[in-house]
Amino acid sequence: MKLWGGRFEKETHKMVEAFTSSIAIDARLWSEDLRLSIAHARMLGKVGVLTSEEAQALVSALGELQSEITAELKESGGSLAIMTKNNAEDIHSEIEARLTRKLGALAGKLHTARSRNDQVATATRLYLRGECSVVVEKLQAVQSTLVSLAENHVETLMPGTTHLQHAQPVSLAHHLLAYFWMLDRDKARLRECAARLNVLPLGSAALAGTSFPLDREMVAKELGFALVSQNSLDAVSDRDFVVEFLSCASLIATHLSRLSEELILWSTPEYGFVELDDAVTTGSSIMPQKKNPDVAELIRGRTGKVFGALIGALTMLKGLPLSYNRDLQEDKEFLFAGLDTVSQSLDLMALMLSKANFNRDRMTCAVEGDFSNATDLADHLVRQGMPFRQAHEVVGGVVRYCIENQKKLEQVSFDELKKISTLFRPSVVDEIQPRAVLNARTSQGGTSPAAVLKQLAQAKQSLGRLS
Ligand code: ARG
Repeated sequence: MKLWGGRFEKETHKMVEAFTSSIAIDARLWSEDLRLSIAHARMLGKVGVLTSEEAQALVSALGELQSEITAELKESGGSLAIMTKNNAEDIHSEIEARLTRKLGALAGKLHTARSRNDQVATATRLYLRGECSVVVEKLQAVQSTLVSLAENHVETLMPGTTHLQHAQPVSLAHHLLAYFWMLDRDKARLRECAARLNVLPLGSAALAGTSFPLDREMVAKELGFALVSQNSLDAVSDRDFVVEFLSCASLIATHLSRLSEELILWSTPEYGFVELDDAVTTGSSIMPQKKNPDVAELIRGRTGKVFGALIGALTMLKGLPLSYNRDLQEDKEFLFAGLDTVSQSLDLMALMLSKANFNRDRMTCAVEGDFSNATDLADHLVRQGMPFRQAHEVVGGVVRYCIENQKKLEQVSFDELKKISTLFRPSVVDEIQPRAVLNARTSQGGTSPAAVLKQLAQAKQSLGRLS
């Protein structure tokens, strides 16, 4: 049974039915659809559009559907095929059909002063509001893993790079915590996104509002919406909240992709900085020796899906005249693709990191003799009064001297340095040892263990972890 068959003389073409159907995508909104219908029915009863008996019968039947579908889903192992098997046009039609089987004609009263246009916008907002909290928790799980790793590697030296060239030594904890802060901002963005989308469209009806005396505040309160939408045309036809979420998701995916890229590089024999656990790597069908970082590669690769969803949603919206157009049905495919991708990627990143084994020796060895203490040699001269530009030039000469004589910078003796500049003091030899270089970076937000410990404390505080 179609919700709109009355004015049609002929059957809808099968191809058209298949083409316009969205149940395969929107079935997951079943619970939100029931919730908003319960609130709507209760409100229609309160304002007297329905009798309180009618409203009560609708509310009870919708509640029964909630438990029945939950049970059916449990039985089917969570498969939404139970919602799609009747080939309803969309989830709203499916639920209404189920309600009609229970209540007969009375079910038809639920749609008073309501359209699928405000209904679907409300269901999507409700659903996404819940999912924002889930994604925030998943971000938190990755952050927590980063903090645990960082706690073990405050003193682990590794090459800090710019242009992928060794630049200055850093602590591995410092490097890992850089991702902590990226994810912290992702969390803040998601919370803002959730707060902004928390506005109730229901009561806007098809596009222009309704002549029935609705109590929209009551519905908003029951569903936990902070506000009621101010413009019915806007409420049924904008999807900026979908775009905003996908933009947050794109940044999450970007951050995970950058971290994945580093794990991929670091697990090559050339780096050997990290070993990924057997449980999170895969092999090759031809090369028996292989252990591949496929999980990290797929996290990196699926970033494209999230960006695609963002651009898809923006493109879908950009040419639409007000108000509702069927194009908007595509919003959910984009939204769920972006959401599912980042959710899974976050889970897998937490798993992969929690089992990662960092090789302290390899990292420390990579710093030795890599000239990443050259800045500190220049800083030494600056402390003796030499202008930095001149010190830079002098140390460039020392580096050249080392390369020509196949020496590590930290192995050059005070006597050799003295010949290059009389400003060098004997303490310089100790100052440019890699660990001393690390320890010296005590500025706030710097990489010295002392500064990193302070950073760790901040990170834990932000996670709500006390120690
Ligand atoms: N399934 C549609 C959507 O997701 C809602 C149906 C509105 N249909 C309509 N012809 N106005 O947007």
